[in-house]
Amino acid sequence: MIKPSIATPVITIDGPTASGKGTIAQRVALALGWHVLDSGALYRLAAWAVLDRNADANDIDQVALLARRMDVTFAGPQTFMSGKDVTEMIRQEHVGDLASRLAPHPALREALLDRQRAFRENPGLVADGRDMGTVVFPDAPLKVFLTADVHARSARRCHQLRERGECPDEQAVFLDLQKRDERDMQRTVAPLKPADDAHALDSSALTVEQTVEHVLELWRVSLAKAKHLL
Ligand code: CDP
Repeated sequence: MIKPSIATPVITIDGPTASGKGTIAQRVALALGWHVLDSGALYRLAAWAVLDRNADANDIDQVALLARRMDVTFAGPQTFMSGKDVTEMIRQEHVGDLASRLAPHPALREALLDRQRAFRENPGLVADGRDMGTVVFPDAPLKVFLTADVHARSARRCHQLRERGECPDEQAVFLDLQKRDERDMQRTVAPLKPADDAHALDSSALTVEQTVEHVLELWRVSLAKAKHLL
């Protein structure tokens, strides 16, 4: 019998904060008619669960338990926790910051692992995060490591915040991105780094459309190679 993990293709898109992974993953998934996993949303939801319940963020076993038990539904662009729409709440900067401080803990990462893998359904999945290609879906047939220089990412993040009606302090956003990069790259468990077989893609000078097209082209090439090998 063919194992579902072999039958169901996954494209992983990993990269640093504000590199545009989320937007690119959504667009690629739309173009292919596939499912999408925003793994960062799960870390944000875990952080939100901690804040919402006034739990102790230092009690990592409790945090992991909350993450394991949280009742989450993704419905298109909306995210619900225990039936409540938390889409906007989990996008707040302080929630992202707590998510990034909780993310290094192995107990939390382990608690979220099966939940992430359950997104792998036919006809395919586009998964974005930090460790999609290295830990969660190491057998993915296409892995992309999406980067952009910190100035481009900082400008994008400010633009995003302005669109949401916020008034970002550009210098603070820049410093915060650098801090998160450092935390994500230096942690010992599932650090942010390209998988050995990942394609590096620098989107600093590319539009969203160009980046999406690049990923789709990589997918076409990898399909053609696979057919050739059959
Ligand atoms: O906006 P940003 O890209 O920073 O956040 P996100 O992708 O929504 O993820 C929130 C936080 O979760 C990140 O800062 C990472 O530290 C962490 N994360 C992770 O450790 N592993 C993942 N696969 C996804 C996110």
